[in-house]
Amino acid sequence: MAVQEVNLLIHSATQLITCAADGPKRGANLCDIGMIPDGALAVTNGEIVAVGASSVLRSTYSASQEIDASGMVVCPGFVDPHTHAVYAGDRVNEFEMRVGGASYLDIMAAGGGILSTMRATRGANLDALVAQTRRRLDVLLALGTTTVEIKTGYGLEPNHELKLLQAIELLASSHPIEIIPTFLGAHAIPPEYAERSDDYVELVVQEMIPRVADWHRNSWFAQQRPDDALFIDVFCERHAFSAAQTQRILAAGFAAGMRPKAHVDQFTSLGGVAIAIQLGAISVDHLEVTNADDIALLAQSDTIGVVIPAANVNLGVPHHAPARDLVDAGVALALCTDLNPGSAPCYSLPLVMGLACRYMKLLPAEAFNAATINAAYAIGCGDRLGSLEIGKQADILVLDVPDYRHVAYYLGGNPVQQVVKNGRVI
Ligand code: NIG
Ligand code: FE
Repeated sequence: MAVQEVNLLIHSATQLITCAADGPKRGANLCDIGMIPDGALAVTNGEIVAVGASSVLRSTYSASQEIDASGMVVCPGFVDPHTHAVYAGDRVNEFEMRVGGASYLDIMAAGGGILSTMRATRGANLDALVAQTRRRLDVLLALGTTTVEIKTGYGLEPNHELKLLQAIELLASSHPIEIIPTFLGAHAIPPEYAERSDDYVELVVQEMIPRVADWHRNSWFAQQRPDDALFIDVFCERHAFSAAQTQRILAAGFAAGMRPKAHVDQFTSLGGVAIAIQLGAISVDHLEVTNADDIALLAQSDTIGVVIPAANVNLGVPHHAPARDLVDAGVALALCTDLNPGSAPCYSLPLVMGLACRYMKLLPAEAFNAATINAAYAIGCGDRLGSLEIGKQADILVLDVPDYRHVAYYLGGNPVQQVVKNGRVI
């Protein structure tokens, strides 16, 4: 057979981790990372065209660019399926208050927390927001995150929420990292609506959702992927949105063509899991205090469970989401950073994988699938991202470690040697 020309050949990887899957990975399958020793892959026009043994691929393909990954691990780009990366300012003062003993919910009830970031974000113009966020995306990409979901939720007013969506759109069309947008107008009750949260819910339903749906229809995102729905999220929690309010907002979003997601069971179990599943949510996120009944419900659904070890580590709370029980029950589990200025100022999925192994008793292989293929399914991209398989987008990492388990084993380093996004070496 004649040698075929391709754009890029990565070969001689000590371990090629494919995370190959025919759907979200559950149960024992979450341990299967599809390892090929001395592996290689070929890429043309941003797409993976071959995956296999180095000896075979090196004699079949000739590439204009080659990467010798001897001694290293090659794996899919990491996918971060839950962040609040667009915001202004920081909350380092609250960090210090929490270290001194104040709780996250106390600070939030006293008008700090999400509302303090809301004030900073409302005060920032579009250019400032884009500039601050761009630096965060650079850090994410350097740590191996090639696709990131970003939520609004610090505007909490129609024009400011749209400003956040515009910032996300400007970044998506100009930064190599791929961005999946989520509308989270129901992240907190803004001060103008204190004591009348139902009125704020009506503002979200009557004004924000229609305007946001309109924005999305004409956005760069809809041009790129006309079939992809915008996600809508709600923070279902005490001092935020009740179960009934969550249901009302997600149902209104669904009716406007959006796909639900929800922050549920972070501190209080209000029944958000069942509501979200019933509305066909693509994911339910947090799950720190999810009970056995809801675990069983989730296991029987197509909804992905997204857990956030960095949040409680950051908040100094010893308890964690029951990730081991979730996996053993058959829930399709994913990991995220939750990158935000309050509960999780965390950029690093490698660190999150390390925390998930230690605090949630995931095996390194499970953490790997949870931060790649399952994370991609949590944001509707599992069919095209999250694994190294023929036909998938060439989002690839070369890790300077001899064994994939080193990623979770080291805490706080950066194993990423090279990032390939959409076939392009960054
Ligand atoms: O996922 N819980 C609600 N939202 C974020 C926190 C955002 C913030 O603290 O600014 C979360 O933890
Ligand atoms: Fe969050």
